[in-house]
Amino acid sequence: MDGFRLFPVEAAAGAVKVDTIYFALIGLATVIVLLVTALIVVFSIRYRRSATAERHRLPKWFSREIEIGWTVATLFVFLFIFWWAGAQNLSALTPPRNPLRIHVVAKQWMWKVEHANGVREIDELHVPAGRVVLIDMNSQDVIHSFYVPAFRIKRDVVPGRTEEIWFKPTVPGQYKLLCAEFCGTEHSHMTGQVVVMTPQGFARWSARAPNATDLVQGGALLFRAYGCSGCHNEGGTVRAPDLHGVFGSPVPLSDGRTITADARYIRDSILFPLQDVAAGYKPVMPSFRNRVSDDELAQLVAYIKSLADEAPHD
Ligand code: CUA
Repeated sequence: MDGFRLFPVEAAAGAVKVDTIYFALIGLATVIVLLVTALIVVFSIRYRRSATAERHRLPKWFSREIEIGWTVATLFVFLFIFWWAGAQNLSALTPPRNPLRIHVVAKQWMWKVEHANGVREIDELHVPAGRVVLIDMNSQDVIHSFYVPAFRIKRDVVPGRTEEIWFKPTVPGQYKLLCAEFCGTEHSHMTGQVVVMTPQGFARWSARAPNATDLVQGGALLFRAYGCSGCHNEGGTVRAPDLHGVFGSPVPLSDGRTITADARYIRDSILFPLQDVAAGYKPVMPSFRNRVSDDELAQLVAYIKSLADEAPHD
């Protein structure tokens, strides 16, 4: 133990912002508590039962303008806090461009991590300092919550959905990863470590990782094994959208909406194919729910993403 500390270290770019808002709120609340307490004390002395104070008229210095003025001023103070915290929350939801993507599967009671090059780890997450890391997460069973106090980030991982969370670690070191949603008897043991390394150290670490299967390669094998290629490649008997160049682009849907083909859309299309059917195609794709595991889904998504770099076939 490195002594008692009231607050976890600030080890990510957003942590300082979150703490600033937190301390501003605490500061404001303290001022208000002191003010109200002082007024209570003053009034209970001045207007005690035996005192001969004026109780029926407002003091002379008081006016309607003062009343309106301080009401409006407090309103603006709180609107400002709302805007400040809201803006911070929105930026926490929108990852910057070109992040390092890492896939995490939460399950009772562990965190399974898969890096893009196929390196896997359990209850440990190695990341380089100074780089934006985007975690996309799935749960295999119940709701878990990915929580790293030192980064001031937390996001629930809900089964059947892909949740994203991002952070930019700044200080190399080891930080606690916790599950912040009660998820069963071993919930309190569902902990791990985020190991923030120097960029060079991280490069060395991920290069010497044992028997890494490339996510994209694995996905390409599954794409054939599950028969996706039968319809989605040219020459298939059933006409299905060509997936080259799809990832990251807008997809017009049969009901008139347009959706961006991100990891969540690809995943949803595999699990719930009738939900968002691409315009011009028949809703004939079978669901692969309960057939593909979360690990396999991550590989398929990585493979389809890799197709985006190739030109679309016509
Ligand atoms: Cu997972 Cu609590």
